[in-house]
Amino acid sequence: MEQTDYILDRRSIRKFTSQKIHTELITKVLTAAMYAPSAVNTQPWHFVVIDRKPIFRQIMEVHPYAQMLQTASHAIVVCGNETLQHGDGYWVVDCRAATQNLLLAAHALGLGTCWEHPFYSS
Ligand SMILES: Cc1cc2nc3c(=O)[nH]c(=O)nc-3n(C[C@H](O)[C@H](O)[C@H](O)COP(=O)(O)O)c2cc1C
Repeated sequence: MEQTDYILDRRSIRKFTSQKIHTELITKVLTAAMYAPSAVNTQPWHFVVIDRKPIFRQIMEVHPYAQMLQTASHAIVVCGNETLQHGDGYWVVDCRAATQNLLLAAHALGLGTCWEHPFYSS
């Protein structure tokens, strides 16, 4: 296997098995996310790990593209911190880099993921 194959064969997964995911794997995925580059190394991100079905249901009620949560065991919400960012709008780019790291690390560890579009409720 080429070293870059895990980048090329990552795909969005929208139906998940009921296999339990060990906390250690979640920690590895989050660590990879936090190793992403960020402007002036500000790391303006926070990660909220959700593993409660009632919260998934609440998200699905308001988010039109989040139905993959029906079978998901975990969701990781990537939050930008405007007070830490290097300048206006940088948190968006930095959080995207972290998210991509997260997806690739999860795939390398055998976990399926799907990037969910940000949803801004009024
Ligand atoms: C910014 C962004 C937002 C996305 N939002 C959603 C989403 O809300 N729901 C969804 O099912 N997929 C979402 N995706 C996944 C894309 O549909 C998917 O990455 C694309 O179709 C390419 O397929 P692949 O990931 O299997 O290569 C999103 C991807 C990105 C980068």
